[in-house]
Amino acid sequence: MSTTPSTPRLAGQHAGYVRFQLAAFRAKLRPSPVMQGVAARLTDQNIADLAAYFAAQPVGPAWPGGNAALRARGEALFQQGDAPRNVIACAICHGADGRGNERLGVASVTHQSPGYALAVLRELKNAPSFGGIIHPEAMRIALRPLNDNELRALAEYVSRMP
Ligand code: HEC
Repeated sequence: MSTTPSTPRLAGQHAGYVRFQLAAFRAKLRPSPVMQGVAARLTDQNIADLAAYFAAQPVGPAWPGGNAALRARGEALFQQGDAPRNVIACAICHGADGRGNERLGVASVTHQSPGYALAVLRELKNAPSFGGIIHPEAMRIALRPLNDNELRALAEYVSRMP
């Protein structure tokens, strides 16, 4: 349950998502100097055990503070999208409550750390297409029409959503 805005919260994250990300760091498919080094030392069993542990923790509380106007902009995009601009409502995949879907491999984003949420949205938007790996591709397509102010609004909303 990170309280550092730039470090992701893992409490309550779906086991399948954590397994997938740790394997991607270990295989050096997902960039991160810190996490590639950490994951390099993990066995498959370590990864499965860690993922089960984090999935069993309750999701943390909303982050305090923030900017209400930015959050309202993020809420509208998250819940309704913006059809004329081909922005798919994030809630279609992540759910209105932002808890994602374990079975479909969709990450929980509720009360994610605000700094990490913005960083990962930028990363996913600009990630090269991996071809064979479908999951990051879904986010790359969803984020393509959005500008950086909108990514800020979305990060603000997911970290502080009711
Ligand atoms: C078509 C389904 C789909 C849509 C629409 C979608 N997402 Fe995602 N999202 C996913 C999937 C699948 C993942 C997991 C990606 C992976 O496995 O690398 C994900 C991952 C994420 C993550 C990273 C979670 C973490 O902790 O690392 C964030 C943040 C996120 N989505 C936010 C959003 C926002 C905000 C929107 C709306 C602009 C959105 N998503 C729209 C499917 C979707």
